Amino acid sequence: MQLKIEDINKVLILGAGTLGLRVGLQCAISGFETTIYDISEKALDTAIKTQASILKMLIRNEKLTEAQAEEAKGRLTFTTDPEAAADDADFLSESVTENLELKRKVWAKFGALCPEKTLFTTNTSYLLGSQIADASGRPERFCNFHFHDVFYSNVVDVMPHAGTASWINDLLMELGEKLWQTPVFVQKENTGYIFNYMLMALLGAAGSLRTLDIGSIEDIDRSWMGNFKMEMGPFGILDTVGLDTAWHITSSQPDKKSQAFAALLKSYIDAGKLGVKTGEGFYTYPNPRFKEEGFV
Ligand SMILES: NC(=O)c1ccc[n+]([C@@H]2O[C@H](COP(=O)([O-])OP(=O)(O)OC[C@H]3O[C@@H](n4cnc5c(N)ncnc54)[C@H](O)[C@@H]3O)[C@@H](O)[C@H]2O)c1
Repeated sequence: MQLKIEDINKVLILGAGTLGLRVGLQCAISGFETTIYDISEKALDTAIKTQASILKMLIRNEKLTEAQAEEAKGRLTFTTDPEAAADDADFLSESVTENLELKRKVWAKFGALCPEKTLFTTNTSYLLGSQIADASGRPERFCNFHFHDVFYSNVVDVMPHAGTASWINDLLMELGEKLWQTPVFVQKENTGYIFNYMLMALLGAAGSLRTLDIGSIEDIDRSWMGNFKMEMGPFGILDTVGLDTAWHITSSQPDKKSQAFAALLKSYIDAGKLGVKTGEGFYTYPNPRFKEEGFV
């Protein structure tokens, strides 16, 4: 059953973390009835609070009116009940923890629960659709649809795997625009899509500069920020991404440099420092050093 953009009314988001809450909020802002599912009540509570502060920011920046923000809130439902979540979903965007085994389990569960019509997408940063699609039971309806930050960085990657039905590509390109994103089509499956492929090289190099003790975290960031007039450097970016997410990616690379970088990330994770989301990572938040006058 092929879907058209007007057939998409109900959206299901799996995972209410950093990305799931943002994708879900944008779906609600764009007019979709949106259910956000997570196994953790705490994650859902945090999502509601974070979404409220994003809405305030959007109102302040005149991207939304107060009334539009209230309407968006009214379209959002939060649940830990998988059956209720899957009921009548037209479009599913999965943003659970970046771990292949976990994602395959979640897809097996929701592949069985969702109605036949549901379009399946994953927001994974570095996994390929061909590694996950068969777990859903409907690989032809499965495609990578990868957001970056949604509100700050508004690019979305559409990356089919070899078995994705071709009508899905056009539909997701259209849906991306409806969600206020710039859609980018990735013609062949590629780890890290287009932007993350380039970003991985930068973050990996920054990690090695630190683990080889060539530069301090601040000087590595200063170099990048000062030369390219950027708002943050690689370690600031890592704090935004989440050090746990970065660790999942880095620790899966077998080479020595990646393993050394993964060990550095793990030392922060073990100390409860996951980045912006826990208030501390390489920097402390909400006022990290790299935003101070005179840092660069
Ligand atoms: N953080 C980023 O900058 C970023 C950007 C683009 C894409 N992504 C991708 O989005 C996905 C999520 O990343 P994140 O940064 O939001 O992670 P996160 O740790 O902030 O959130 C993950 C959420 O998944 C939930 N979860 C874990 N197991 C679950 C299950 N079985 N069922 C339902 N929910 C479950 C957790 O409770 C948590 O709330 C990853 O695949 C990541 O690669 C992340």
